[in-house]
Amino acid sequence: IIDKAVIAANKMDRDELLFSYKGILYPVTFCSAEVFRAMESLEARSDDIILAGYPKSGTNWLGQILSDLVAIFEKKTQNKESSMKDEELEEFPYLEIGDTGKYEGDEKNTCTNCPLSSFRFLKRMNKLPSRRVIVTHLLPENLPRSIFKSKAKILLLIRNPKDVATSFYHFSNGISTLPSYETWDDFFVAFMTKKVPWGCYFEYLSKWNKYVDDENVMTITYEELKENPVLGVKNIAAFFGIPLTEKELQSVVERSSFQSMKKNSQKTHGAFGSVFFRKGGVSDWKNLFNEDQNEKMDKAYEEHSDKITPEDMLFS
Ligand code: A3P
Repeated sequence: IIDKAVIAANKMDRDELLFSYKGILYPVTFCSAEVFRAMESLEARSDDIILAGYPKSGTNWLGQILSDLVAIFEKKTQNKESSMKDEELEEFPYLEIGDTGKYEGDEKNTCTNCPLSSFRFLKRMNKLPSRRVIVTHLLPENLPRSIFKSKAKILLLIRNPKDVATSFYHFSNGISTLPSYETWDDFFVAFMTKKVPWGCYFEYLSKWNKYVDDENVMTITYEELKENPVLGVKNIAAFFGIPLTEKELQSVVERSSFQSMKKNSQKTHGAFGSVFFRKGGVSDWKNLFNEDQNEKMDKAYEEHSDKITPEDMLFS
């Protein structure tokens, strides 16, 4: 999907790369208003595993962990011969991301024919066996209501906004389905003014802020998982009610290490493996931010995220 979209995007104008839905920008090659509308009638299941995270906060990493945990769970509870797999898009579908078929020169460039028409979207979601791992970058208010009614559990992933912006900048320039930026300063302005896909990260934090105390929501930071992946995976598994032996725990941690995922990335992400798995560390923002940008971001962060993240996250 990605390869096809990137080739197509080379032919597209910058302005055609994004569209706005309910005041937020999304890439046309992966999202569509039709699917957003269809999403409203999605029936969540109470055992669904929802991973919510703004783009570039480590969603592929957590998706890998969750899909391996589900494979272990299935094996134990359903006696199902399911193994931990490596095909990312099949294994943990992004709720709102798919191949929209919007390619230049593609005669089937209509909603009824595109692979992710609302019909196909719902069919695909309904067909997925339990337990589903559903990854999303959306604001809570744009998620299907049934997710909150069903008591499906949500893992909320957050990352230092400065590293998110840094990662997003490199990603935008590395993948032609997204607008590219001549300078970091240009991207910084876009990031701070809601001009990037999936909107403003600070708005994202403050909207999710309201859910962090819910018993069905667990919050984890990229930084804590990086520092202690064994503890992080253990806590995630416990939250979703998945018992793990020591050996299984070690295996999930090992398979989800940055080195393993990067090594496997050609298989999971095609030619764009190196764009998705770039540095995989903390504080790379220090290579890009000037003092003024640093202050601006500290201020925006303070205004929007009172309880969602540890206080010292920005300065680590
Ligand atoms: P960097 O660009 O800072 O390296 P997402 O998956 O939400 O698109 O996030 C991508 C970011 O997560 C990238 O950050 C990527 O390198 C990092 N990442 C991906 N897999 C990781 C892993 N296993 N461990 C740590 N970081 C990982």
